[in-house]
Amino acid sequence: MASASENIYVEHVKGVNGLDKVILREIRGWSAEVYLYGGQVTSWKNERREELLFLSSKALFQPPKPVRGGIPICFPQFGNLDSLEQHGFARNRLWSVDPDPPPCSSHTNSRAFIDLILRHSEEEAKIWSHRYELRLRVALGPAGDLMLTSRIRNTNTDGKSFTFTFAYHTYFFVTDISEVRVEGLETLDYLDNLQNRERFTEQGDAITFESEVDKIYLSTPTKIAILDHERKRTFELRKDGLPDAVVWNPWDKKAKAMADFGDEEYKHMLCVEAACVEKPITLKPGEEWKGRQEISIVPSSYCSGQLDPRGQLDLRRVTFGC
Ligand code: BG6
Repeated sequence: MASASENIYVEHVKGVNGLDKVILREIRGWSAEVYLYGGQVTSWKNERREELLFLSSKALFQPPKPVRGGIPICFPQFGNLDSLEQHGFARNRLWSVDPDPPPCSSHTNSRAFIDLILRHSEEEAKIWSHRYELRLRVALGPAGDLMLTSRIRNTNTDGKSFTFTFAYHTYFFVTDISEVRVEGLETLDYLDNLQNRERFTEQGDAITFESEVDKIYLSTPTKIAILDHERKRTFELRKDGLPDAVVWNPWDKKAKAMADFGDEEYKHMLCVEAACVEKPITLKPGEEWKGRQEISIVPSSYCSGQLDPRGQLDLRRVTFGC
């Protein structure tokens, strides 16, 4: 829990429908909001108070329904292959503030952070009979970078291992989806969710959007760029421990079929999700897994369909250390 001197960086308030929310603020004006419900980031704003994540105007903040937008956590499964609910249960559970977070050296620069924890419950044991601790640190760096670190520990006392898949289901706000390019995934293999997860190889230079997309790119690089041409800015996503990347936009027909999503909102969102899907992770009792995602914004000069090769997106930068 934040001490009194940290209160300008970390504020505990009530959000929509009285749900507990934590606001993280950095001195230059960047901010992020995290709901304890779902352990879910729902907002990330720059110093001009512009929203960078997409949150549907129809998002329901009504447990046990998941919240449409921000960064839902998919655990213990991505998708709906198992008998569990779609994308697992972590996104529709009430998390707690972690009273005993692990030390995390790389965040010493960040004063705006919160540690949350989700543990197994008796109720849940009926659908997933494992004991676990899922820890999430959400930190806002001094330059506005939004960093999420998850640690999952098997706390089973019956000697049993468990297996899971995971995703940070990040909804980026984009000005116009038809003017967006994703770079870093070209030529990779992917599983197409629209074709029974059949495997294909991506063709072409970069990924652009003109219809529904729902693909799981496999063994991706640690950095992916999402270029918002209209706004001349690029989201840079860096990840660690999460080899795959899901790219999803429902487009018009599916948008209309979702009750918690506006009919036209697909034009202003794109999910690019750091994930571990193809090769599920198995933990023995006492073992821990860690997965990180960091997102930041850089200005981009992008014209005539070309990413400026000398542009400011430095694809060599790696900042992970935690
Ligand atoms: C994406 C999946 O990650 O999430 C899609 O690839 C799915 O298949 C989408 O439709 C939204 O899922 P949900 O459960 O939040 O409606």
